[in-house]
Amino acid sequence: MEFAVETRALARTFGSLRAVDGIDLQVPAGSLYGFLGPNGAGKSTTIKCLTGLLRPSGGEMRILGIDPLADPVAVKRRIGVVPEDLALFERLTAAEMLMFVGQVHGIEDETFKSRSADLLSLMDLNGAASTLVADFSHGMRKKLALAAALLPAPRLLFLDEPFEGIDAVASRQIKDLLHSFVARGGTIFLTSHILEIVERLSTHIGVIAQGRLVAQGPLSEVRSGAGVGKTLEELFIDLVGGERAAADFDWL
Ligand SMILES: Nc1ncnc2c1ncn2[C@@H]1O[C@H](COP(=O)(O)OP(=O)(O)OP(=O)(O)O)[C@@H](O)[C@H]1O
Ligand SMILES: [Mg+2]
Repeated sequence: MEFAVETRALARTFGSLRAVDGIDLQVPAGSLYGFLGPNGAGKSTTIKCLTGLLRPSGGEMRILGIDPLADPVAVKRRIGVVPEDLALFERLTAAEMLMFVGQVHGIEDETFKSRSADLLSLMDLNGAASTLVADFSHGMRKKLALAAALLPAPRLLFLDEPFEGIDAVASRQIKDLLHSFVARGGTIFLTSHILEIVERLSTHIGVIAQGRLVAQGPLSEVRSGAGVGKTLEELFIDLVGGERAAADFDWL
């Protein structure tokens, strides 16, 4: 099987904290891989390592068959990334920012015009094309980041919480878009705390807890290994260390 993302013993420490503690990811090409885990589990740190935003402390990676430590530009040319902290150009307008991304990727004028028009209208950002990014709302920033990631038509997308803060209409459109992206052979690696979306979209999942991968594989297989009739939420809670005692604060 061909993997779009493959790691061996990938690790990242911060001082004495093992944020990512030796994980072996296998993301099949053409899959929508939902990367799940509780807050602080190491999801964003993993994405940052895979996309060249953070240097791993150990392990090996292959992104579309390329070692990103050896050839970071070749990898960056082929992937789209929406990182946790978005990294937008605050002093540009939305249209200028897309133009900048288009130029960096050497997208031809005509292609750029039609793609950016498609993306701005999909994200319902037409009315905000000449607004400074600094003046965007949280959800608008997220949508612009997604538009910028899609513009070069990458074959592999890394999306860290793409649905967080996105309204229901846009969320539906983005889901449809991601679906057709995968149907055409693209690969998506995404994190989300919205398990209902992950359940509906993902072909494969990986679950990380305290920096370690505790489950990985086709969604149906991981689910069936967990017992009949379990929802993804129940499976998730089982995998990441059980339910915490329900809060009973008598002072509240
Ligand atoms: N730059 C940093 N310096 C020090 N510690 C960090 C840094 N970035 C992340 N960490 C720590 O690494 C651990 C994993 O963080 P990470 O952001 O990867 O979690 P996450 O799974 O994305 O969580 P969330 O669901 O809340 O986004 C956490 O304990 C966090 O405090
Ligand atoms: Mg995160």
